[in-house]
Amino acid sequence: MQISILLDAPRTRTDDEFLIRDVPGTSGRLDVVCRILIAAYRTVPIFTSCIQVNAILGGPPHPPLLLRIDDVNSGEFPESELSCALIIKGLLHNYRTTKTESSRQWAQFSIMAKSFDDILKEGASSSSQLLYLVEKGKPLDQVKIDFDQPITLILGDDQGLPTEHEKLVRQYPVQEVSIGTRSLLGSQVVSLFLLEMARRKEAKRPNIKP
Ligand SMILES: C[S@@+](CC[C@H](N)C(=O)[O-])C[C@H]1O[C@@H](n2cnc3c(N)ncnc32)[C@H](O)[C@@H]1O
Repeated sequence: MQISILLDAPRTRTDDEFLIRDVPGTSGRLDVVCRILIAAYRTVPIFTSCIQVNAILGGPPHPPLLLRIDDVNSGEFPESELSCALIIKGLLHNYRTTKTESSRQWAQFSIMAKSFDDILKEGASSSSQLLYLVEKGKPLDQVKIDFDQPITLILGDDQGLPTEHEKLVRQYPVQEVSIGTRSLLGSQVVSLFLLEMARRKEAKRPNIKP
């Protein structure tokens, strides 16, 4: 199984000019990105190595930038928002000063100049099942998911997808999927989706008793 998470973070800063002691107030909500990353890599350990996260940072001064996380092994992703924000701050500093896309210490993280549309196109051209997570979508328990095909999950930050990005998403063959009618935090949505995938995988295993 391959899961790619496309997170739109249209206000998150594209440089390292924010305070680690006040990430929510100074970074354009990098804290939301960090929480979603932790949910992606810490909820279901057996899925860790199958998940790629593409967060599109759209805040000042040089949008858009892609923050990509890939090839993570189970248990190696930071557990705290602060550690995660520190890694990303270091990466943004290197990118700003030397145009280096990744760091030797955290090779799983990279930064490059790519847009939301570039990543949607990548998903569509790899025949991924494009799932836009949104409150008014089809309930997840009624959505068929083929584990043999890649899955791309699309979600917004705490303010949801901007209208122009939602229009763009709808130009692709996406299914709109809901985890419930109440608006949840992005990190909760990612955790609940992964737990449901784990439940389905477990249900498919033969129940052989010794
Ligand atoms: C905190 S929510 C954004 C809430 C914002 N007030 C809005 O109206 O979009 C962050 C993201 O999580 C996803 N999301 C939130 N609740 C959801 C739900 N019940 N089902 C599916 N996706 C959901 C959506 O992609 C949303 O953009």
